[in-house]
Amino acid sequence: MTNIDAEETAVHPNLQVRDIGHVRVLRIDREDKLGAFSSSLVSAIGAEVSRVRQTPSVRVVILTGTGRGFVAGADIEEYSNASAEEFAEYQRRSRAVFDDLSRLPQATIAAVNGYAFGGGFEIALCCDFIFAADSAKFGLPEIKLGLIPGGGGPQRLVREVGARWTKELVMSGRTVTADELYARGIATRVVARDELQTAAVEFASELAAQPRQALREAKQVIDSGRSQDLETALSADQLALARLFSTSDGAEGIRAFVEKRPPEFDQE
Ligand code: COA
Repeated sequence: MTNIDAEETAVHPNLQVRDIGHVRVLRIDREDKLGAFSSSLVSAIGAEVSRVRQTPSVRVVILTGTGRGFVAGADIEEYSNASAEEFAEYQRRSRAVFDDLSRLPQATIAAVNGYAFGGGFEIALCCDFIFAADSAKFGLPEIKLGLIPGGGGPQRLVREVGARWTKELVMSGRTVTADELYARGIATRVVARDELQTAAVEFASELAAQPRQALREAKQVIDSGRSQDLETALSADQLALARLFSTSDGAEGIRAFVEKRPPEFDQE
C-alpha cells in the first residue's frame, strides 16, 4: 500500500519534499503568507525541479501548498523593496524555473489546496494536470497592482482557452472558482479539500505504474505538437510509437495481452 504519510524533508524553510514510491511531493510551506513566492522560494523550487530531472526513479511530481494558500502570487512585500534590476532579475529567474518545470520529462500535477493567484496560478498552468480543492480560488490579479502577469499565465492560458476568456481574467483580474476552471477544461479534477491529497497521490501512483518511456513520450508529443503543424506533429507521434514498439516495455505489454495476464513493466 502507498505510504501517503512518508516523512518530509525541508529543503528550504518554505519547501518540504517527500517521496511516496515513484511520486515526489513538493509542498510549499509558507502558510502565514499564503504561500507567496519569495525569490529564494522560487529558486528552491527550481533546484528541486532540476533534481527531479536527474532522478529517473521519480516518475511523477506533485506540487502542492499548505493551509489556505497554494501560492498567492509573488511576494508583494519583496516587490515593494526591489529595484528595477532586482525586479527584472526575479522575473527572469522565475520564468526559467516555470519553463523548466513545464518541460520536465516526468508527469506533473498541481494539487491546488487554496489561493492560486498570479505566479501560483501560473506555476499550476506549467503542470500537466491541475487537481483543485473545491474551495480553491484562482486569478491573475496583477492588473490591480498596475502590472500584468510575468510568469507565462496569459500566453499559456490563451493557448488553452483562447483570447477572450484569457483577456477577461488578465484585464479584470477577477477571481475564478475551481468549478469554473473545471468547466473551462483547465482543472482536471475538483475534489473536497480534505480529499485533495489522496486524490492527487492516487492519480499520481496510477501514472507512475505506467511504462516509463511511454509516459514520457506521450507527454512529449502532446506538448511539442501544440507548436507544430499537424503533419509534423502526426509524424512525431508515429516516430515515438515506433521507438516504443522496440522497447522491452512495449514488447511486454503486447505479449502480456496475448497471454491474457497483467503486464510486468520495468519498475526501476
Ligand atoms: N505577497 C506577500 N504577502 C502576501 C501575499 C503576496 N502575494 N498574499 C498574501 N500575503 C500575506 C498578507 O500580507 C498577510 O500577511 P500578514 O498576516 O503578515 O498581514 C497574509 O498573507 C494573509 O493574507 P490576507 O490578505 O490577510 O488574507 P485574506 O484571506 O484576507 O486575502 C488574498 C487573501 C489572497 C485575497 C489576499 O491576500 C491577496 O489579494 N493577496 C495578493 C494576491 C496578488 O495580488 N497576487 C499577485 C502578486 S503579483
